[in-house]
Amino acid sequence: MCGIVGYVGKRDSQDILIDGLKKLEYRGYDSAGIAVHTANGLEVKKAKGRLAVLESQLSGDPLRGTIGIGHTRWATHGKPSDVNSHPHTDNSQKFSVVHNGIIENYIALKEELIAQGVQFVSETDTEVISHLIASLYEGDIVKAVQKAVKRMSGAFALGVLTEYEPDKLVAVRLASPLIIGVGQDENFIGSDIPAILEHTRNVYILNDGEMAALTQDGVELMTIEGNFISREMFHVDWDIVTAEKAGFDHFMLKEIHEQPKAYRDTMGSRISQTGDRVELKEVGMSAEQIRGIRNVHIVACGTAFHAGLIGKSVIEKLARIPVEIDVASEYRYRSPIITSDTLAIVVSQSGETADTLAALREAKRCGARVVAITNVVGSSVAREADDVIVTWAGPEIAVASTKAYTSQLIAFYLFGLHLAQTLGTMEAAEIAQTIAALQALPEQVEAILQEKDAIKRIAEDIAGHDNLFFIGRGLDYAVAMEGSLKLKEISYIHSEAYAAGELKHGTLALIEEGIPVIALATQDALFEKTVSNIKEVKARGAHVLGLANEGDHELEKAVDEVFAIPRTLPLLTPALSVIPLQLLAYYASLARGNDVDKPRNLAKSVTVE
Ligand code: F6R
Repeated sequence: MCGIVGYVGKRDSQDILIDGLKKLEYRGYDSAGIAVHTANGLEVKKAKGRLAVLESQLSGDPLRGTIGIGHTRWATHGKPSDVNSHPHTDNSQKFSVVHNGIIENYIALKEELIAQGVQFVSETDTEVISHLIASLYEGDIVKAVQKAVKRMSGAFALGVLTEYEPDKLVAVRLASPLIIGVGQDENFIGSDIPAILEHTRNVYILNDGEMAALTQDGVELMTIEGNFISREMFHVDWDIVTAEKAGFDHFMLKEIHEQPKAYRDTMGSRISQTGDRVELKEVGMSAEQIRGIRNVHIVACGTAFHAGLIGKSVIEKLARIPVEIDVASEYRYRSPIITSDTLAIVVSQSGETADTLAALREAKRCGARVVAITNVVGSSVAREADDVIVTWAGPEIAVASTKAYTSQLIAFYLFGLHLAQTLGTMEAAEIAQTIAALQALPEQVEAILQEKDAIKRIAEDIAGHDNLFFIGRGLDYAVAMEGSLKLKEISYIHSEAYAAGELKHGTLALIEEGIPVIALATQDALFEKTVSNIKEVKARGAHVLGLANEGDHELEKAVDEVFAIPRTLPLLTPALSVIPLQLLAYYASLARGNDVDKPRNLAKSVTVE
């Protein structure tokens, strides 16, 4: 999983490529590189480390030319190193390739090319592509790429240049995202829209099995078999500043603060003017089809999976349909029982997560209808699902997901209500009450954000510890899992989320003097039970931070510190209780001096299995 960009036009390409790569660094940041047609031919500069390393190398010795490709890497085959960085070239240095994805049959191809006398310099799967294209070239780069692609299996998006055709940039998409930006006397490729948005708002989104040949004068779209295609241009109407930090120190903090807006935008026109009905027009299922749903499968990865845990409770409670939930990397391999009466819900911020996409395809193959909850219009998940509920959170740049997660919760609440309305499983008054509570959430989030300094103080204490626990029951347990993941991924503090009642079956042995325990106790029906579990850890010396609803003074007596959230319906509390946990992770990471937006070993979009 990596980011690729490309430019062909009249301007110097180096700065355009570097700026595009900056927008894509969230996709990987082990190394970066560019290839540019200069007066000396096709020249490559690449370096291990953050983009800044490459930038400093280029500042003393720039590559001047008006056509180029660039890459930011997240290592899959071969460790991060200068030589494993992209672009890769063939032995004659006449062909240059950037690649996002995996070539599954690269070993067989490599052996074949070695037998032909090719010398490999890197450990990557990508290098075979440059040699393969070079070996198949007969004066037409588009044809050579088509022939090469036919030999390759796996998932990939490619940008290809050859010195023999210095006015042409070739791009291919097979199961890894790629878009084409169309400008005035210049054209672009990018792994996603922010990479090129500074230059153009007119975009073609390539489908799997499609490719493009770009010159400064135009873009030809075709299938990898060589059949020309016409495609409507997509006009991007969101702003570039949306993808920038807007005065916050980090994207994550900015995105945490954008949640009230993301909630409002995601609810948007999906609630009737009268405030008593949900109108999810994008879900094309008829009432009869909804009545025919026998079971729901929710499938997702990481934080999106945690949103799915809440979604399961929401659908079961509101619509009384049984729901199973799986992490996407497990789903296909456990032979799930999927029938034409199954509704599969895939949840993915990026809409490009390989495992989630594979789960979607498996569900469809077995006859299920698939609803996608995604943040990216035009993403693979969005295009392949039957119905798409877009979460209008806007671009999420920080690797740690915040506003996408909470917008996914809002999408689940809306969808749960939509099902309930059709199935008659809720009284009209109950629906109106739930909608009113949903509409109050943005202001309640704003109130929590006002209290961020209190969380900052707690986070600074926690930052000195190496281990901690999150506990909760019911929905609080699901939120605890998300809080724990957030803390782990950016602060690198080891933490575990436990169902509070389960502690005494083993994990209680780990509780010792001074260990921080974050106890969520927002579910009224489970409050007393959770307080008992809190007493169990307190008795063993834990330092407990309680997360409670405003006015729950009972908890204050049982814990060392309390953070209170505004009251809402129990089912909606996750949309509030997760906010302090996001802030906790953010400030703990900051206190430890970590790179908050780009945690080690991770990438924003996981397009490999
Ligand atoms: C954690 C995080 C990841 C993603 C996961 C799925 O903060 O962001 O766990 O949630 O990689 O990504 P999407 O939602 O793009 O499918």
